[in-house]
Amino acid sequence: MRSMQGKFALLVGAVVTASAALAQDVPTEQEAVRRAIHVCAACHGDGGRSQTASVPSLAGQMRQYTIAQLKDFRSQTRAETGTRAYMWGVSALLDDAMIVGLADYYAAQAPAGGKPGKPALVQTGRRIFVEGAPARGVRACASCHGSGGEGAAGFPRLAGQRADYVYGQLKVFGTQLRSHGVVMQGEVKAMTPAEMRAVAEYVQSL
Ligand code: HEC
Ligand code: HEC
Repeated sequence: MRSMQGKFALLVGAVVTASAALAQDVPTEQEAVRRAIHVCAACHGDGGRSQTASVPSLAGQMRQYTIAQLKDFRSQTRAETGTRAYMWGVSALLDDAMIVGLADYYAAQAPAGGKPGKPALVQTGRRIFVEGAPARGVRACASCHGSGGEGAAGFPRLAGQRADYVYGQLKVFGTQLRSHGVVMQGEVKAMTPAEMRAVAEYVQSL
């Protein structure tokens, strides 16, 4: 994460410069969104297709979900370490119209393609995704996230998402740090870390 922190310091500079420019020349909403996308791309990749294991892809993500997350960062109600470090500062500079503009932009981008994973993990992960573990009350992920992990409205797209990020979030849902993630807090209760790892590998492969 060290190089990310260096990058972040640079980016804070870029954001400050951008917001100073923003105050001076009063850009149109569209132009403000365009400038913001440039900053986001430094971490989330071109078009929101992440090249970094711990940074989520945003491309093809559900509009409603992205809007909700950006508002949760801005109000500091989504508070796991990674978002405190990287997203609280960035989101503080966004007004509601920019949040909607960014969510529209990412929803319209071609999603990151699936990456083949370790076959044994993918196979275990697929079973959890499709069937859940009914004996322990773990419901099928597909029932909310879609049979191909494509997402729907407030249910985020998981297909092609970075496995390290997905695994990290499944652990975060075991805490209170994503306070709007109540549904997921219930889903992860009976899951083992090995199952979380497997299902993360599976969704990345989609
Ligand atoms: C300095 C790096 C950095 C920059 C710049 C950045 N992000 Fe992030 N963003 C992250 C990291 C890291 C995470 C994941 C945090 C975690 O693991 O909890 C994240 C998470 C997110 C999420 C949550 C995704 C999900 O699937 O829940 C959204 C949405 C997001 N960022 C949008 C943006 C937007 C829009 C911008 C530009 C305005 C932006 N980010 C700029 C690093 C960055
Ligand atoms: C009953 C519906 C439901 C089921 C079943 C469900 N989820 Fe979710 N999931 C959600 C909702 C709603 C969210 C958004 C939470 C939020 O807004 O913070 C979510 C969020 C997530 C996220 C965070 C995505 C991101 O980009 O940060 C991951 C990862 C996830 N779910 C994985 C899973 C896995 C794996 C399973 C199966 C073991 C599963 N979910 C089962 C409803 C569900």
